[in-house]
Amino acid sequence: MSALIAPNIYWPGSGGAMTDEVILYEVGPRDGLQNQTRVIDVEKKIELVNLLSAGGLTKIEVASFVSPKWVPQMADAGPVLDGITRASGVTYAALVPNERGMRAALQHGVDEIAVFTAASEAFCLNNTNCSIAESLDRFAPVIEMAKHRDIAVRGYVSTVVDCPYSGPVAPRQVLAVARQLLDIGCYQISLGDTLGNATPEQVEALLTCLLEEVPADHLAGHFHDTSGRALDNISACLAHGLRVFDASIGGLGGCPYAPGASGNVATESVVDHLLKLGYSCSVDREKLQLASLFAGQLKEPG
Ligand code: HMG
Ligand code: MG
Repeated sequence: MSALIAPNIYWPGSGGAMTDEVILYEVGPRDGLQNQTRVIDVEKKIELVNLLSAGGLTKIEVASFVSPKWVPQMADAGPVLDGITRASGVTYAALVPNERGMRAALQHGVDEIAVFTAASEAFCLNNTNCSIAESLDRFAPVIEMAKHRDIAVRGYVSTVVDCPYSGPVAPRQVLAVARQLLDIGCYQISLGDTLGNATPEQVEALLTCLLEEVPADHLAGHFHDTSGRALDNISACLAHGLRVFDASIGGLGGCPYAPGASGNVATESVVDHLLKLGYSCSVDREKLQLASLFAGQLKEPG
């Protein structure tokens, strides 16, 4: 097993250093917008990203370099990355499915990338037209290119609790995929509750399994909020030492290949929840509200 998953920083029950600082990984411009059928102007996408950085978010997933045949809304990922005003201290990331996407992302000066696969074979096939093993093969050259340029690679595992095509997913399946992503060089695994129907009990069971082998500081929570339990699920993760959460401004979002799933948990709701619980995160709540209002204007009517 890779040295990457040697326990460090925090291990539940170990008395390791536990921080109250939470990092939000903003996915609104990518996960949020990818599901909108009405094509949004590049200028509006750029404005959204700029409002998010002005709101103090330091990790922003700006776009995805996927096939425009699969996700037309992301066809302008390059112009969006080119057009944003780069704020210092902000990491501008993009989702990359394969070598072709990686080459394009590099051309447009991406700071960090995310590769994505799933714990369920059926979702992987529907989302990326390949098996889980094939998706990992596709990532090998991508990660090689990233290493050469000192670009950090994050890994998403979708359908960590259930799959829209094949039903419940066992925690052990998630662990197997997470380990492989860490072994090939991902610095962090984002656990995708793609359908947004996970309960805190299911999240507990998942984390109990994962934390046997993967330290909490290599994990992030990515909750869609179809059933309204995302904040409870974040609380369950916090109790297990996770300190990174994905969120989407204004609750924008969904995945075109996860029918019925609603948007990610709203960034501003996560901030309020964290502050109420006594955690800190580096955002300017008032400025974030401007981004939220703007995101609301981009939402599909009805
Ligand atoms: P494929 O059809 O198997 O691949 O798609 P292909 O290599 O045969 O390519 C098909 C066409 O796409 C070709 O064009 C390629 O050139 C082109 P043609 O010859 O037909 O004109 N192509 C590309 N174009 C631009 N950029 C690229 C690229 N690659 C190929 N990078 C592929 C395989 C992975 C490309 C496709 O299935 C795909 O793009 N899937 C992405 C689907 C997607 O973006 N889903 C949403 C993101 S994942 C998500 O939301 C979940 C997450 O939020 C976590 C959670 O909530 O669980 C992360
Ligand atoms: Mg998602």
